[in-house]
Amino acid sequence: MAYTQIIGTGGYLPEKILTNADLEKMVDTTSEWIVERTGIHRRHIAAENESALTMAERAAREAMSDAGIAAKDIGMIIIATTTPEKMFPSTACLLQHRLGIAGCPAFDLNSTACAGFVYALSIADQFIRHGSIKYALVIGSEVMSRVVDWNDRATCILFGDGAGAVVLGASKKPGILSTHLHADGTYKDVLSLPVSLGKPGDIEEDLYIKMTGNQLFKLAVNILGNLFDETLAANSLTKADIDWLVPHQANIRIIQAMAKKLDLPLDRVAITLQEQGNTSSASIPLALNKAVRDGKIKRGDMLLLEGFGGGLAWGSALIQY
Ligand code: ACO
Repeated sequence: MAYTQIIGTGGYLPEKILTNADLEKMVDTTSEWIVERTGIHRRHIAAENESALTMAERAAREAMSDAGIAAKDIGMIIIATTTPEKMFPSTACLLQHRLGIAGCPAFDLNSTACAGFVYALSIADQFIRHGSIKYALVIGSEVMSRVVDWNDRATCILFGDGAGAVVLGASKKPGILSTHLHADGTYKDVLSLPVSLGKPGDIEEDLYIKMTGNQLFKLAVNILGNLFDETLAANSLTKADIDWLVPHQANIRIIQAMAKKLDLPLDRVAITLQEQGNTSSASIPLALNKAVRDGKIKRGDMLLLEGFGGGLAWGSALIQY
């Protein structure tokens, strides 16, 4: 049986850092409130000449170098991003061109928000398992700073910019054991970025993220708890088999609740939230990359990845790393 393994990871964070103290000067908030309610201390903000494309390229090149794979070997490129370079051509096609390759499928997942990376991972996994491609680049890249309303204290404190990437490769040894994807449009209004080409003339407020934070918080805790049960049951495993949780980085209280659900101490959870905020689809690969680079996550460890976001859309991946 063929498996998909993560054979390389990479990440990129813009140089500019926005601290909670900086935000205190911009909106009616305090660093204390932000840390207590979210766990976030600072976040990275893209420079004017940076974008989902430039950050994806940095992360992708690092992941390919880590994997020892040349661009010509890549058989598919998927970029999960809610902040793409353009409507089209896709950010993935633009990256393909920058990497000097042509021919392999390349596309963006634009609308799965913070669940985007897990969705993209699942899609690439199907192609590799079925033998149609050998290597894939899966990236999450976001310039959230361009879609938050910097006058809205409820949302602007949460988000940051960055990109994370993995190279996936076909393997005879176990890698991705299962992925589980879900969505429920009932909750379409809980979290949205309503900018639309479907109606004449957007109003300015549609250009920014809208969120009913406390409702989303409760939904996330319930949904992710059920998702963990589903993922473990599908693999006939128990929570004691999980070595690492690699969660979407939305709120430290959600992450703590998920660690508790798995009986995992927090030092077995890949957390970047304090330093990076919520980077949407980039948060999972960035957290994975950091934990791997720091020597925490090791080959053979059992990883549970989870993401959830606008849609609502959510998903998990169980991976023997
Ligand atoms: N500073 C000070 N006060 C604030 C701030 C702020 N930055 N933001 C909101 N408040 C106030 C509110 O106005 C409210 O005041 P009121 O009681 O007088 O009305 C009070 O704080 C409490 O507001 P809540 O929204 O109930 O606060 P909560 O504890 O729920 O925290 C938060 C808000 C951090 C947004 C939390 O709900 C959360 O993290 N939700 C989940 C977000 C999430 O999971 N996103 C993931 C997906 S993101 C994606 O897909 C792109």
